[in-house]
Amino acid sequence: MTFVIGENCIKCKYTDCVEVCPVDCFYEGPNFLVIHPDECIDCALCEPECPANAIFSEDEVPEDQQEFIELNAELAEVWPNITEKKDPLPDAAEWDGKKGKLEQLER
Ligand code: SF4
Ligand code: F3S
Repeated sequence: MTFVIGENCIKCKYTDCVEVCPVDCFYEGPNFLVIHPDECIDCALCEPECPANAIFSEDEVPEDQQEFIELNAELAEVWPNITEKKDPLPDAAEWDGKKGKLEQLER
């Protein structure tokens, strides 16, 4: 089992999640973070830390975000590791909660 980052991280990227991960399994793209499914130890520490409520246990990913399971696995192989919190994206508050953000994903 792994945890998965879903759509609401896109264009927010608060990064509070990376600080609590005991195995440093977060990977960073331009406007989204992902979790490496083979490295996550299922500790659940990150889920409550996300101000955007964008992190789900794999078996609780909403029906309309199922594609993020594969997306996390795919992008974790190509993006660099991130282990320290940084400032959120400048318009994070404005984008928090918006629907249809997948088309805003930058790779
Ligand atoms: Fe890291 Fe634990 Fe979150 Fe997995 S569930 S990404 S191990 S903090
Ligand atoms: Fe994204 Fe939430 Fe982490 S917005 S960067 S999953 S704290």
